[in-house]
Order: sequence, then structure tokens, then C-alpha cells
Amino acid sequence: MRREHCGELREKNVGQRVTLAGWVHAVRDLGSLTFVDLRDGSGVVQLVFREMPEAHTLGREDVIRVTGKVRPREKPNPALTTGAVEVTVETLEILAKSPPLPFLPDEEVKASEETRLRYRFLDLRRARMQRNLRLRHKVTLAIRQYLSAQGFIEVETPMLTRSTPEGARDFLVPSRLEPGKFYALPQSPQLFKQILICSGVEKYFQIVRCFRDEDLRADRQPEFTQLDLEMAFLEDPEELFSLLEGLVAHVFREAIGVDLAVPFPRLPYREAMLRYGSDKPDLRFGLEMVDLTDLLAPAGFKVFAEAAQRGGVVRGLPLPGGAHLTRAELNRIEESGKNAGLSGLLWLKVEEGVHSPLEKHVGEGVLANVAARAGLASGDLLLLAAGPEQTVAQALGELRVQLARERGLVPQGKWALAWIVDFPLFKLSAEGRLESEHHPFTSPKDEDLPFLETDPLRVHAKCYDLVVNGVELASGSIRIHRRELQERIFKILGIGPEEAERRFGFFLRALAYGAPPHGGIAFGLDRWVMMLAGENSIREVIAFPKTATGACPLTGAPAEVDEAQLRELRIKLDL
Ligand code: AMO
Repeated sequence: MRREHCGELREKNVGQRVTLAGWVHAVRDLGSLTFVDLRDGSGVVQLVFREMPEAHTLGREDVIRVTGKVRPREKPNPALTTGAVEVTVETLEILAKSPPLPFLPDEEVKASEETRLRYRFLDLRRARMQRNLRLRHKVTLAIRQYLSAQGFIEVETPMLTRSTPEGARDFLVPSRLEPGKFYALPQSPQLFKQILICSGVEKYFQIVRCFRDEDLRADRQPEFTQLDLEMAFLEDPEELFSLLEGLVAHVFREAIGVDLAVPFPRLPYREAMLRYGSDKPDLRFGLEMVDLTDLLAPAGFKVFAEAAQRGGVVRGLPLPGGAHLTRAELNRIEESGKNAGLSGLLWLKVEEGVHSPLEKHVGEGVLANVAARAGLASGDLLLLAAGPEQTVAQALGELRVQLARERGLVPQGKWALAWIVDFPLFKLSAEGRLESEHHPFTSPKDEDLPFLETDPLRVHAKCYDLVVNGVELASGSIRIHRRELQERIFKILGIGPEEAERRFGFFLRALAYGAPPHGGIAFGLDRWVMMLAGENSIREVIAFPKTATGACPLTGAPAEVDEAQLRELRIKLDL
């Protein structure tokens, strides 16, 4: 039996006899005296062993139980919450020994991520990982409390299901009972949540695992968790925004004690691309881009004129204080711009007048107008790029973030949240095919309905993203709730009636039997906890994540299976 917890002992406990149990966190053997830091889930406290031979056998991560008396510490350690006291040990019981460790589970580890994941049980013992796990628990608890109080109920949806079109590859599971057929693991519960709405569940949510076989990044895992949510009779996104602003503010307050200002700003997609070159702009800092096509295309510089003739743009990215950059630094920035897809990068600086290699082509007057439009002050630099709009916007957008980071312009401790609205309904794939910008169940804006077939790329969607410090935290939309419109959208996407029936017949039937208007959203829970924890990768807030190649070093998954299992599934490997 353990009665007290290591991290809770304070001066007021002096004189008490306590029973503690935990892991050996540190040993200092001074011969007749042995000091041991004992760690349990609540923290660390110092134990003192006097003339106790068994204490000499203790090593890091052994599990022990002791009884002893709390005393004031001769030399208090202000770095520890228990630093005013220590426990003089009377009895010691060794509950489990540990062999030598592959790495020490301390605040900062030197081991590679592969080793950390292989020995995840050690890695998770680190205070930082324990903090992250607890924070994640706090976040899910706060979500459940808030949404329950608002009348939402949590409903589970199947993991063995049919493919849903969220844009990634599916993970497939072969069926033994119907050889040759496969379940797909859900990329999201999108269709099930809409069917629940059709089933009379008016306020649904679920903290749910989703599976996507896509290339992994710091903020992407093959299995990840969403807070998924849907509401019946939702026609105006503003109604959802205010509910979710309440939710997000509640979670920030409960989890990390931060009070967010609500409402969050709304930024149309087009404006986000124009000003920040991204549909998930980091709004913690300025560095807003300016369009200069009308000033520079007619000014006599061939590159700009040609870009404009081909329907492209000339844009500028201001860099405050950048006039002092050296030639070498400017070259390096140009190199980054080229890596991001630009054919070249020009500059203009304000330093006792406006200077630029462009001067001899466009003249001083035009340069002064450009500097004025970009709002440049003395000492500022403007980077200029020309080309197709999407390429220029995205490349300058990437440079904006890179330069802000490198030059320390990103304020720490600041939270900048915004709703990005008015997305286009469709985009063109690399092969020039129409694809849904979000997913095919997103409702077009009513005023754009007449252009669905004739000019699909000008149609806007009732779709929205929540962006936090440059990360897409959540994404959702008002849905199509009429079967005819859903079939029309499928047709535009090249999904004919037979394919629609085969893939989505079950869903179209649900829409046909009286579907209320509805809409919803899904948050990336791992991303949310990552940001709240101040981590750079979602792997730090997932107990058992996969590596960048989708492997689990702890279990060795994915792994071969027995020949007999394959036979049972009627699967033959062709490697
Ligand atoms: P979407 O595909 O945009 O929308 O996903 C919603 C949110 O989930 C997070 N996310 C991920 N997190 C970690 N790893 C991944 N591989 C990953 N993929 C997505 C992101 C993202 O914003 N059914 C729709 C939602 C809806 O319309 O209601 C959907 O899944 O934070």
C-alpha cells in the first residue's frame, strides 16, 4: 500500500511518518548516506538512507516502496516543489529492478526518435510527456463538458466501413467472411454524422480516430483524432461560429489558463491569399503582401509586363528593417523564393530615398509610388515577384513565414485565431480535373448556384476553416441536404449516377427521406493539444504515434502475418 504521494510533501508534513512508492529518479551514494530522488505521478521527493546496505544496490528506474519520517531539509532545493523537506527512510522494499537504460527519461532526451518510440514506456515517464498526456486529458474533458452542457451527445460511428472521400488514400481491411471484399477505415465520420442528423440526432459530437494513408509531416499522422461535430437546422455559419468560439475559449481557459478574445476575426479566402499568400495565415505578425500589378506592369520592365500579359501578377512582400540586408543575405532569400517556385526575386529599399536595380527600367517616380503603396518606412525592404497568381502568392507566403521566423518577428505567447470563409467550391487538380476544395458534401453558396455547370470555378462554398497561429485547426461546412443538388455536384465532379449509387447510395437514400438543413466541423485534436503544449510535432502529444514512415517501433507494426492468416483471407502476396 502507498499512502502519500511524493510530489505533495511540504513543510506542514514535517514529523509525519509516510509510505511512498515510485521510481528511483536519481541516486547519490555517499557511503554511509545514500540520497535517492523518488518519483511518482505527482512529482519527486528526496529520500535519505542512513547505514542501509540495500540502498547501495538501487539504480535508476527501480521501483521501490519506503516508509519513513518527513524532516526539514538541511539545504532546501527551491527548484523542487518538495524542496523544503526530505524523508528519512526506515524500511525499504524493492518492488522491481530495472536493467541498464537505453536513455534516461529526463526532461530533455538525447536519444533518437526511433529509440524514444521503441522504448515509449520509458519516454512517457518523462515529466514533459506526462504533462502532455495530462493536458490532452484536460482538453478532451473540457470539450465533453462544454458540448454536453450545450445539449450535444457523443455518438460512436463504425471503424470498419466503406471508403469516404476525404481526399487521402484509404487503409483497407480484408473481409474473411466475404473473400475479395474490403472494409475501409474511416478517413472521417463525415457521412455517418450526416446520417445521424437525418436520424434525428440534432446535436452530435464525437472524439474519434480517423485514418488516412497520406505522406506524413510534423502535423500529420496516419491515425489521428478529430473532435467531430454536426448540428441540424444550421443554415448560417455564424450560429456555429459563436458556439465554437465559446468552446475554443473554454478549452484554452481550462487547459492553459489563457483568455482568448472573441469573436475571432473572419477573413475571406481571397483576401487571405492576397494579403498573406496562404489560406492558413499566421496572423501573429504583419508583413502583409501588396499587389503592384497595376503600378509595375505598364512601367517599362519586360518581366513584369510579360507576367501581366499572361494573366499573372506582380506582388511585393515588405520586410521592416530589411534595407540593411547584405548582398549575400538577399541572394539567400532569392534562392528560397526560387525553391518555392518563383522564377526570380527583385528588391527595393528605402534608405535616404528609394533604391532598386529596377530604377533604370521604371524610373524613380514609379518606385516612390510602389514604396508608398507598400507603406515602407526608412530602413525597410520590399521583395518583388512576378508570375502566375497562385505561384507568386504561395511563394511569397512561404517567404513571409520563413523571414518572420528567422528575424524574430513572431511574437511568442500570442494567440491569433481567425475564421477563413468564402472558399471556392472547386479547384483544379494537377491533371486539370475539377475537385472539391473541401469535400463533395459541402453546400455551394445560394447566389452562385446558377454558375455551377457553366462556370464552376467561380462558385463559392459555405465552408470555413479555423486557423490558429498559421495552423489549420478545424475545417467544416454547411452541407447539401437535398438529394438533387448532391447528385448535381457528383455529376460535375465526374461521378455518374451508377458510381454515385454504388459508392454513396446509402447516403443519398438518407438524404431522400427528409433531411434537415445541417452543418458542422471537425477539429484536429492532436494539433490542438500540440499547440497548447507548445510542441512542434503532434507525435509529442500522442501516446503511441507512428514514425514518419508510418511505422510503430514499439510493436514493430506494420509486420508480416502468418501464411495461415493470409490463406484464410484468400490473399496471395505478389512482392
Ligand atoms: P478535414 O479533412 O479538413 O475535414 O480534417 C479536419 C481537421 O483534422 C485535422 N487533420 C489531421 N490531423 C493530423 N493528421 C492528419 N493526417 C490530419 N488530417 C486532418 C486538421 C483538419 O483541420 N469531415 C471533414 C470535416 C467536416 O467537414 O466536418 C474533415 O475531416 O486539423
